Amino acid sequence: MLITFEGIDGSGKSTQIAMLAQWLGGRGATVLTLREPGGTTFSEAVRSVLLSTKHEIHPRAELLLFEAARAQLVETVIRPALGRNIIVICDRFADSSTAYQGYGRGLSVSDVENCNFMATGGLKPDITFFLDIPIETAFERAAGRNGSTADRMEQSGRDFFERVREGYTLIATTEKERFRIIRADSTPQKVHEAVCSEISELIAQYTAKA
Ligand code: TMP
Repeated sequence: MLITFEGIDGSGKSTQIAMLAQWLGGRGATVLTLREPGGTTFSEAVRSVLLSTKHEIHPRAELLLFEAARAQLVETVIRPALGRNIIVICDRFADSSTAYQGYGRGLSVSDVENCNFMATGGLKPDITFFLDIPIETAFERAAGRNGSTADRMEQSGRDFFERVREGYTLIATTEKERFRIIRADSTPQKVHEAVCSEISELIAQYTAKA
C-alpha cells in the first residue's frame, strides 16, 4: 500500500508521517517512510541541486529534475517494497509536481501529468492526505524555525504558495476517491487522529488480505 502526504511547506507533513508510521507499526505493519525528492543516493543528490539557492532553474528543467528523482525512487525502492507487502509512506509524490510546477510555476498541467506518468510508470497512491493550512500559518511556522534559512523553493513567495494551495484543492476535489483533505492548523495530535480515522478502514482491509 502506498500512502502519500501532500501540502505546502510548513503544513506539518513530517510530524504526521512519523506519528502515522508509529501507529501502523504498533498494529504490526512493516512500514517504510520516504521523502520526495529523495530516498536514494541519486534522488538525494538531485534534491540538493533543486533546493540550493546557488542555481536559477527554469520551470521545465525544475520539473524534469523532480521527475528524474521520482523515477529512480519508484523503480529502485517503492515498487520493490510494495512487492514485499510493505506499507510505503511517502512525503510528497507526483501531486507535488502538479501543484508546484503546474499550478505554482504555471507549466501546462496536462504536460506535468504526462511527465508524472512517465516517472511513476502509472503508479498511483492508494490514499493521499492533503494537509491544508492557510498560507499565513505556513509562513509563521517557517519564520519560527530557528536557524534554518529558506531553500530555493521556499523563496518562491506568497503568491506562488497561494497558487500551489489552490492547485492542491483542485486536484483533491478532482480525485475525491483518493484524496483526504485534512485541516492541519490544529494540534499535531488532532491532525493525527483525523488521519487515523480516515485510514483505519483501508488498513483493516489491507491486514485482512496480508
Ligand atoms: P520538502 O521540503 O517537503 O521535502 O520538499 C522539497 C521542496 O520541493 C518543497 O518546497 C516542495 C518542492 N517540490 C516540488 O516543487 N515539486 C515536486 O515534485 C516535489 C516532490 C517537491
